Amino acid sequence: MTDISKSMRAIEISTPGGPEVLKITERPTPIIRENEVLLAIKAAGVNRPDVLQRMGMYPPPPGATDIPGLEAAGVVAAIGKNVSDINVGDKICALLPGGGYADFATVDAGSCLPVPTGFTFEQAAALPETVFTVWANMIDDGDLKAGETLLVHGGTSGIGAMAIAMAKAFGAKVIATAGSDEKCQAALNLGADATYNYRDAPWDKEIADNGGADVVLDMTGGDFVARNISCLNHGGRHVSIAFLRGAEAKINILPIMQKRLRLSGSTMKARALSEKARLARDIEKQVWPHLESGKMAVTIDKIFPLEQASEAHKHMESGAHVGKIILKTR
Ligand SMILES: NC(=O)c1ccc[n+]([C@@H]2O[C@H](COP(=O)([O-])OP(=O)(O)OC[C@H]3O[C@@H](n4cnc5c(N)ncnc54)[C@H](OP(=O)(O)O)[C@@H]3O)[C@@H](O)[C@H]2O)c1
Repeated sequence: MTDISKSMRAIEISTPGGPEVLKITERPTPIIRENEVLLAIKAAGVNRPDVLQRMGMYPPPPGATDIPGLEAAGVVAAIGKNVSDINVGDKICALLPGGGYADFATVDAGSCLPVPTGFTFEQAAALPETVFTVWANMIDDGDLKAGETLLVHGGTSGIGAMAIAMAKAFGAKVIATAGSDEKCQAALNLGADATYNYRDAPWDKEIADNGGADVVLDMTGGDFVARNISCLNHGGRHVSIAFLRGAEAKINILPIMQKRLRLSGSTMKARALSEKARLARDIEKQVWPHLESGKMAVTIDKIFPLEQASEAHKHMESGAHVGKIILKTR
């Protein structure tokens, strides 16, 4: 049984700014509502949206805590009165609306999944944000199927590494881009079938000349959208999850019509709890078996203690990481 103290350690964003604004502080331990569980956190994932939140560019959804952290793994310390399928003492990982950089977090029971068999808490904490985002956008909305080809930019990012692992587990071919030859090699090591250094290769022409792509999972936006469109096959799907090269893109409508392309996009944070619960159940059925069998691996770059959250953010912003950065709480 986990001791639930009245207060807990948490990392707060003292003011919008650089990594140094992340400060360790004491906060009241959050109180569960009837559909929630209280998670005694062992490890939490660091994601790029946390960096944007720290800079004041991606506020938490209404009603959510201001403590950053969109995913965590740990042990259930208490359950709300309407929670029936999770018990105190269960090992779970969860997609959080925020609050992962702390000793405890409350989360809707529907956003929880069991820690996959054989996984450490650190490995499990690396899963929810990237698994939910990649599943929802690449498989659910993007409809990537076995035998098709995925193009993913940022192939060594947390999202990119998960996209490669999931697409390969589901029988697709993967083309990834990265910003250096070393990162291209790392993306190949993660399982990509082909890579391009986006800084110098005419990747769009080469992909189009070599069979094209059926789905693009795009975190780049800007000038890459037109290039993505140019190498999408007939019936292709373009799914936007971020715009690291700019929120505005100049595109020609004609190839969208000629190739019957579909363009969509989404943010995970803003989705309704019922939608996250639906995704969680699909993921548990479709993705968890691949993780537990070892067909899909999770890639952890570095683990920092909770109190070094600002170092973890510096590391993410250096761009040196391959895969996930984790904060260890206990
Ligand atoms: N929509 C959603 O629901 C959702 C959910 C989670 C994350 N996201 C977004 O997905 C992206 C990845 O998240 P993450 O946590 O995996 O971040 P991350 O590990 O920090 O990765 C960011 C990646 O972006 C690439 N990149 C940066 N600037 C680029 C540019 N100008 N051109 C091309 N590539 C560039 C980097 O590749 P190189 O280092 O190789 O250049 C890096 O691999 C973030 O933008 C995040 O906000 C969206």
